[in-house]
Parts: sequence; structure tokens; C-alpha cells
Amino acid sequence: MRVLVIGGGGREHALCWKLRQSPLLEELYCAPGNPGIAEIADLVPRSVDEVLEIADFAASVRIDLAVVGPELPLALGIADELEMRGVPVFGPRQAAAEIEGSKVFAKEFMARHGIPTAAFEIAHDEASARAAARRFGFPVVLKADGLAAGKGVILPTDEAELEAALSLFFGERRFGSAANRIVVEEWLAGEEVSFIALADGENVLPLAPSKDYKRLRDGDLGPNTGGMGAHSPAGIMGPESASWVLERVMRPVVTALARENRAFRGFLYAGLMLTPAGLRVLEFNARLGDPEGQVLMLRLEDDLLELLAAGATGRFPASRLRFRKEAAACLVLASPGYPEQPLTGEPLGDLAAARADEGVEIFHAGTARDAEGRLVSAGGRVLDVCATGAGLSEALRRAYAAAAKVEWPAKVLRRDIGRRILAATASGDEG
Ligand code: AMP
Ligand code: GLY
Repeated sequence: MRVLVIGGGGREHALCWKLRQSPLLEELYCAPGNPGIAEIADLVPRSVDEVLEIADFAASVRIDLAVVGPELPLALGIADELEMRGVPVFGPRQAAAEIEGSKVFAKEFMARHGIPTAAFEIAHDEASARAAARRFGFPVVLKADGLAAGKGVILPTDEAELEAALSLFFGERRFGSAANRIVVEEWLAGEEVSFIALADGENVLPLAPSKDYKRLRDGDLGPNTGGMGAHSPAGIMGPESASWVLERVMRPVVTALARENRAFRGFLYAGLMLTPAGLRVLEFNARLGDPEGQVLMLRLEDDLLELLAAGATGRFPASRLRFRKEAAACLVLASPGYPEQPLTGEPLGDLAAARADEGVEIFHAGTARDAEGRLVSAGGRVLDVCATGAGLSEALRRAYAAAAKVEWPAKVLRRDIGRRILAATASGDEG
């Protein structure tokens, strides 16, 4: 099979790494890819928003399966464009991707179908947003309706922060038309967990639960990021909760989307909060998580290419997926200044020593080659140092040891990935 992966980050590197292991693979392309992906795929120099050009390319080389990583091309309709050209794609059409692209749509959809989520109101202007926020009381959660690169969620804890948030949304118009409407919702306390499944429009195959660390600094402090680390198992979700999420959230959502003419084919990601009152959906994403995808690809035993090709054109061949017993962990090495103003162009040294460690894989997230061919940083999140191990503690220990061998003095990383989970569970290796 001739396969095209769309995206150029650590998630796409992990997808390419996993697809490469399939005996069905004949040719692997990635648009735009990165220097790490270049070692295992042919790069197509197109950015992810060039959806027409990418779709034309895919048709011209007779791609048998396109796999879409990030949300932007999905929201721009890349799946529709590929399908129009007869290219099978694992990734939802624009209408189905709205479950991520519009938070107002997602919340109203959840309300319509009884999916457990935080109580909310939709506000169209500053005054109604202020009034709704005061009804909920502090802390409260404000979310821009549209895509805002992970920055559109603000959690004011008092009147002053509320006013600052309202002026970002409605005064400064920081998020432009993405904040024409905002969701005002109840603040939920609890532990977050990522639940991601494959959907073929009708059937759902859950991946193992995973956990992502969104804040920049240790102790879940500092600004929200795309994710500074991940591990699977999540360590906080046993088999009973996982099957509850499957039956009460994932299957009903896929069924209801199909009924609303938005059949969902692709990775469906539920961001969940484990609250004292039970599980609540914080958000849906229409794609694999990043960096959750990296640890899930390390644990998945099945042939990913066979699965995705079946999901793109018909039905999944199996009714459940198989995962290695071993745990997997991922540490994100980020640039100084991330997420606001990452400093790029720094040499990353030779990764060979770190990569040689047992159980270690390094995926490139934001790297480039400079004029001399040296590997340099080229984004906010730069390298994903991942490791497997008998349990979470071993996977994390190996990942931290490998990260220490990356010769990039300015690297920014969290030192506490998995720490709270390991402390809370005796072994840390359940669920
Ligand atoms: P979202 O993009 O909707 O997942 O929101 C980004 C982040 O904001 C989440 O990962 C949570 O950490 C936080 N968040 C979102 N909604 C809530 C909520 N209702 N209560 C508490 N925290 C939230
Ligand atoms: N790691 C969170 C996300 O992919 O949205």
C-alpha cells in the first residue's frame, strides 16, 4: 500500500514509525514531515493547510490511504477533498471534525445526546458572557468557540481575571471570529485523562487510556501547552471506568454523529475529567492526541496500517485492539520561551547516545536541518523522548535517563511527569 501521513510533528513521526512496521506498506510519504520522519518516509514539501495541493498530490501518486494528524487540515476539509479524488482517508470530513472545530457545536451535541459534560451556557457578547460567568461563580471556564491553537480556554478565578478574559475575547478580539461565540461553563475539579478511539463511521475500537500533562511547569503550573508529556496506562482509569467511557461516551457519540449525517471516521479523542461526581467530557478532538499518540503507538500491538485502511474504506477487521502489557512514557523537550515565543535554531547535538538506551524511541516534533546539515530546534515542542518499560516507573526512569543524554543545554522539560500518579497508586502500573 502507498500511504500518505499529513503533519510534521511528534505524533506524525510516531504514526510513520508504527506504519513502517506493517508488512502491507510499500511506500510511505509524509507532508510536510520533519528530519526525523525523513529517515523513514519520503517528504512532500507542503504545509498542512495546503489541502488542495496535498489532495492533488495524493491522487497523482495513487495513494491507497491518507492518515491525517493535526486538526487544521481536517477543519479545512482535507478529508472531503481526498475523498472527492478517490483517495481513502482515515480522518473525519469537515462536518464530523466540527466536534473539535466548534466548542458550541460540541457542547450542544453533548446536551442533545445526554453525554456527561460540564454545565454550560453559550454567550454571544460580553454582557451575556459576564452574566453567565457570575451565575456559575468562580473559578469559571470560558472557551472560544473556534480553533485557537490551544489558547482559547481561560479559567478566571475572580472578577479581575474575568474582565481581562472578556476583553481578550470581545475587546481585543485576540481570537478573531473564533470567539464570536464563547462557551461559559462550570469549573470541574479532578484528574484529567485522555480516552482515544478509532472509529470507522459506525464501530469504535478504543485505544488504551493515557494521560497528558498540559501545563508548562512542574506541579501543573504555568501556561497551557500542547502537552509536555504523556504516559499509558494513565494510572487512574481501571477497566470498569474505561468500559463506562466506551459505552456511555464513545459509542453513543459515533452513533449520534452518523445519525446527524456527520459519520465520524478517524481518531476520536475525549478529554475527560475524573470528578468526585463521576466522569465528565471536557472536550472532543477529531484526531489522535499529541503526545498521547506517541505512547499509544509504542504500546499498540496490532498492524496499524491494516486497521486504518479498513476503517477508511469499510469496517474494522477486529472488535478489539491489543496492547503490550508494558507501559510507555513520553517527555517533551521544548524550546525556551515556549509556548509564547519559542527560541529556535539551536543545535540539538547528536541524539545517538540517547536513542541507544534500552526501550527508548525519540520522535522529532519541531526540528530542522541548518545550512550545514546539523539538527536544530525549529518549534515550541522539539523532541519527544519516549520509552517503554515493565511498568510506568521503569518507562519514566528510562525516558528521563535518555532525556539527560540529549546535548541541548537550553531544553525545557517537566521533571514530574507521572510522579503524582506513581505516588497515588501503590505500583502505579494499573489501569
Ligand atoms: P479544552 O480545550 O476544552 O480541553 O480545555 C483545555 C484545558 O482547560 C483542559 O485540558 C483542562 O485542563 C481545562 N479545562 C477545560 N474545561 C474545564 C472545566 N470545565 N473545568 C476545569 N478545567 C477545565
Ligand atoms: N495533548 C493534547 C492534545 O493533543 O490535544
